[in-house]
Amino acid sequence: MHGVSGRKLPGIVVLASGNGSNFQRIVEASRQGILRAYVKMLIVDKDCYAVERAKRLGIPFKKLEKPWRENLKKLLGEIKPDFVVLAGFMRILPPDIVKEWANKIVNIHPSLLPSFPGKDAIKQTYEYGVKVTGITIHIVDEGVDTGPIVFQRAIEIDQSWDLETLESKIHEIEHENYPKVIDRLLHEKWRIEGRKFEWI
Ligand code: GRF
Repeated sequence: MHGVSGRKLPGIVVLASGNGSNFQRIVEASRQGILRAYVKMLIVDKDCYAVERAKRLGIPFKKLEKPWRENLKKLLGEIKPDFVVLAGFMRILPPDIVKEWANKIVNIHPSLLPSFPGKDAIKQTYEYGVKVTGITIHIVDEGVDTGPIVFQRAIEIDQSWDLETLESKIHEIEHENYPKVIDRLLHEKWRIEGRKFEWI
């Protein structure tokens, strides 16, 4: 696949387990030239709405069969993406995959890490009663939501918001920023010093 400049575009693979709204936004952004990459495949670990989106968008998809870790490793080895994008993938990647794809896997999390890692982060945040929350985009390491932070965006929680309102505000800033940050990761220079990510 080539971009308007005629240069070969990097290929990415998206991993999801659920609704797939970030996946869809990534595909749209790639077609709009906001994300200079093409989505080679969607990989899911179960039947989920993301697959319906892939069908609609004409993106190849694969559901991981057991043993999922071995199959994922094999699949990535075959597809050889330039970058692996986690977008609501609800499994912890095994250390051998993280090692093999070191600094080539990115994740988005719906809180300001290191606060509220893990599942149901938006609900956790809401119920805790914090006044500021946001999103974190980070390089994936072997921990859960612990990798070097690439990008964060904060929002203030208005006390009139219910949980659904907060969820939609969070998804809005995810959709706005994830494709742009992936584009920068693919096309700009950066390094990781210790646990600090920095653009060069
Ligand atoms: C997003 O909130 C993302 O931050 C988290 O899982 C959710 C996925 O949403 N990791 P969707 O499937 O992209 O709609």
